[in-house]
Amino acid sequence: GSTRFYDFKVQTMRVTKLCNTKEIVTVNKMFPGPVVYVQEDDRIIVNVTNETPYNATIHWHGVRQKLSCWFDGPSYITQCPIQAGQSFTYEFTMVKQKGTFFWHAHVSWLRATVYGAIVVYPKTGVPYPFKQPYEEHIVILGEYWLRDVLQLEQQVLASGGPAPPADAFTINGHPGPNYNCSRNDVYRIDVVPGKTYLLRLINAGLNMENFFAIANHKLTVVEADAEYTKPFTTDRVMLGPGQTMNVLVTADQTIGKYSMAMGPYMSAQNISFQRISAIAYFQYLGAVPNSVSLPAKLPNFNDNLAVKTVMDGLRSLNPVDVPKKIDANLFVTVGLNVNKCRSKTPQKNCRGMNNGTFAASMNNISFIKPTISILEAYYKKIGGQFTVDFPGAPLQFYDFANGAPNNAPNNTQAINGTRTKVLKFGSRVQLIFQDTSTVTTENHPIHLHGYSFYVVGYGTGNFNPQTANFNLIDPPYMNTIGVPVGGWAAIRFVADNPGVWFMHCHLDIHQSWGLGAVLIVENGKGELETLPHPPADLPRC
Ligand code: C2O
Repeated sequence: GSTRFYDFKVQTMRVTKLCNTKEIVTVNKMFPGPVVYVQEDDRIIVNVTNETPYNATIHWHGVRQKLSCWFDGPSYITQCPIQAGQSFTYEFTMVKQKGTFFWHAHVSWLRATVYGAIVVYPKTGVPYPFKQPYEEHIVILGEYWLRDVLQLEQQVLASGGPAPPADAFTINGHPGPNYNCSRNDVYRIDVVPGKTYLLRLINAGLNMENFFAIANHKLTVVEADAEYTKPFTTDRVMLGPGQTMNVLVTADQTIGKYSMAMGPYMSAQNISFQRISAIAYFQYLGAVPNSVSLPAKLPNFNDNLAVKTVMDGLRSLNPVDVPKKIDANLFVTVGLNVNKCRSKTPQKNCRGMNNGTFAASMNNISFIKPTISILEAYYKKIGGQFTVDFPGAPLQFYDFANGAPNNAPNNTQAINGTRTKVLKFGSRVQLIFQDTSTVTTENHPIHLHGYSFYVVGYGTGNFNPQTANFNLIDPPYMNTIGVPVGGWAAIRFVADNPGVWFMHCHLDIHQSWGLGAVLIVENGKGELETLPHPPADLPRC
């Protein structure tokens, strides 16, 4: 492959949206940020300079960072933040990876406006495994906040209560006509009748999973999380934050204006949120520009069955090599809890009480970020930053298949910790995520850095090894899996990429509350199995 250079300047910019002018953080004063266009096996070098007063890092979501863990980007996991006025150069190769990815800030809630697409084309001369589209379009689903998001995160954590919803959903940064002052702040794709279009969907939203549909048009899913899938035709799709999906759409309707809609999927109970959809237009050339658009139908906000239908449709296109034997089998509960104290320093005995503050956890451990990066601490053998006791003893959990509990005892509440699991190079790993909670169950988009994984099974209720149905033939190969509300999901992968890899819920509010843990994959024997030395310009904390 070739080497592609990019210059990312993290800068503030004034924007006017929803009748309101404010400053947002961007890359190169673009919102969404610049698109990185490369090819499979290309080397990508991005010099990131932070010209804002805030901390910044950039994560290359879905890029497996083979032997390049130092450039993965999550703050306090693989690097310290790039401080105001500093720069850091990210360098990595798209080893055997192609498809739709995205980059985003990975510190605090900066991701709200700091994101952009990464499009990795197949090697020259290699066609898509489906009909060549007439045109391709990037469609990024996002959320927009009138308040300063960094302050908002602090306020939400300090309040101990839930996070307020975004002020608008957006498609490529545009809320569309359902929102105040946004009649002209709308994204539009002009289409030629009869042609087929490839839409590269990305959910870059902060705190909400979303449905997407186009009025009167079918979507044929051909790729999920940058891996080809068996073509699957549907009226709508659902993407959790962190998920990408390529869909083909044929302009097979009569000339007119059709709406593309993005709206929330929120399975939790008793949560109030923004239910207005973001709208963009799918407009036929020759249609009157200001003609009334046909509205797209989205499922109800709590339509779990619609989500299952999309999941059921995702199958790897080509035969896959799923690990059959398992060396490390981890059972991980994911969910929301109440916790007495969230703080920067791990407090082992900080057990919550009723009326505590909201927390989220894996196996009842609420993840606290260390003071230097875990990768640096691990590499330099600096003690006191993390423990190696994840996932810990199996925990008692409750059957939430029939709704949220009202009798959960206090001892299920989260304690704080910075826990990691150390895996031998080459070990075959299975993780079973079980959604459970003492607050309310909901679908959690769990993302693993450094790997894609086979989603071998999922279901509702509690995981039961006797009755669980596994697909070892053509499971999708993903990097973010929505663990069904009150249910479970099982993933498998081979730990062949040494480094320190964050695993977390991609809803940022849950990440802020501690829904995460870290996998450390040890070096193998050969040179191509060993993590390189840290780069000279690695930011310091
Ligand atoms: Cu896209 Cu750790 O995130």
